[in-house]
Amino acid sequence: MNREELMVAVKEQMPERRWLHTLGVMETSVILANRFGGDPVKADLAAILHDYCKYWPVQEQAKIIRENGLPQDLLDYDKELWHSHAGAYIAEAQFGIHDEEILDAIRYHTSGREQMTLLDKIVCLADYMEPGRDFPGVDHIREIANQSLEKALVAGFDSTISFLIAKGKRIYPLTILTRNDLIEQINR
Ligand SMILES: [Fe+2]
Ligand SMILES: [Fe+2]
Repeated sequence: MNREELMVAVKEQMPERRWLHTLGVMETSVILANRFGGDPVKADLAAILHDYCKYWPVQEQAKIIRENGLPQDLLDYDKELWHSHAGAYIAEAQFGIHDEEILDAIRYHTSGREQMTLLDKIVCLADYMEPGRDFPGVDHIREIANQSLEKALVAGFDSTISFLIAKGKRIYPLTILTRNDLIEQINR
């Protein structure tokens, strides 16, 4: 399947506004890859697929996690986390992508992880700041992203964590570990 065919397959999985978001993440991932010395081709491919499962029924996403040995603790936390792991699984199983860097960037685009790779950081940050995003603080994140991937990501995770706290929701522990790790990288 070539890139155009892949884009058609992805577009069919989601409503129009989410497809526009995907296009925005593709564009921003490539910009960030060029800015910070990443691989724009891998960034583009990871971005195309990153939300593949986002609009699948949650039971379907949970089933993929349960039946394929993906981290079971995800099922105890926010459903928003599930599509990333399910998406990485589908990227490999259905689309034959075996590049671990690309799969990891899809897998960790929501939670982050400790020792994020450059590609993880690029896709995760692009997901926060693509042109269609409009949440309080997003312009600040875009501004910081001119200088530092890590600082911009911390600002992104801060907004997610604050949102979860305001909603009285639980926070996935890996997200806290990710933020701590990024701060350590900044202060090093
Ligand atoms: Fe996502
Ligand atoms: Fe996304």
